Amino acid sequence: MSRENPYIEDMYDLPTVHQDRMTEQTLPVGGSSLETDLPPVKHSPDVIVPIRSLGENHRSRIAVHLKALDAHDRYFRFGFAANDAQIDRYVAGLNFERDEIFGIYNRRLQLIATAHLAYADDERVNACAEFGVSVLAHARGRGFGKRLFERAMMHARNQGVRMLFLHVLSENKVMLAIARQAGATVERDGSESEAHLVLPASTLNTQVTELVEEQLAQVNYRIKLQAKLFCDVLARMQTSWRGMGSDHVSS
Ligand SMILES: CC(C)(COP(=O)(O)OP(=O)(O)OC[C@H]1O[C@@H](n2cnc3c(N)ncnc32)[C@H](O)[C@@H]1OP(=O)(O)O)[C@@H](O)C(=O)NCCC(=O)NCCS
Repeated sequence: MSRENPYIEDMYDLPTVHQDRMTEQTLPVGGSSLETDLPPVKHSPDVIVPIRSLGENHRSRIAVHLKALDAHDRYFRFGFAANDAQIDRYVAGLNFERDEIFGIYNRRLQLIATAHLAYADDERVNACAEFGVSVLAHARGRGFGKRLFERAMMHARNQGVRMLFLHVLSENKVMLAIARQAGATVERDGSESEAHLVLPASTLNTQVTELVEEQLAQVNYRIKLQAKLFCDVLARMQTSWRGMGSDHVSS
């Protein structure tokens, strides 16, 4: 299976031949289609999903997240059932400077969802990016996958990306539904499908919205971190109190 995402290719043990599908020919001709706006996104107005941008210090948690996916999910995520060593190689190769990696943490600071917006290596096609996402099985069906895609689209727009690609296995109905709902064109090629989305230019609104969402997610993460630290300290204290109590009883 050929994938142009350099990260995916680095995961294979043996070198693979691949064709770069993000060529100039795949870019839209002329600028008119780029002005087309995306279909309005359906949101539950009362639910804010704290999606934050992940940096270097989250690398190990990304590995833990991906290794928690079963073989079927790994097959959907990477196009093949990546083993742990291949996941480690993928994670080690993540370039946080160039690409954008998003994550959603739960209260226990478990990374329950993550998405990777990978920019094309080739300078001639730097207006393209590829999206990949995974949500842990127990956290699915709550809109996290969809929200991550929306966030990635907004970020890509703000970075001047004009085309967003997704390589999805044709049997992956949920991911295809997310892509289609966002207005992507899906082309099926046997067991694989390629979805692409022409992104409109960024606006002041998309720039400000992303900034605000990122700040909220960072604050949310810090609160969860403090709460977890507090709970851990409390749990340790309770354990030592119990120990003291049993010492007292037995003495
Ligand atoms: C694909 C994946 C990320 C979706 O995550 P999720 O958080 O469960 O998705 P959401 O809750 O945002 O659901 C997205 C949409 O799919 C729809 N959907 C769910 N099951 C569906 C099905 N069987 N057929 C069609 N659509 C379906 C949902 O109804 C929802 O749309 P709605 O909000 O309008 O109702 C998750 O299943 C996953 O991690 N899979 C393994 C890895 C993978 O496939 N990655 C994608 C490769 S790029």
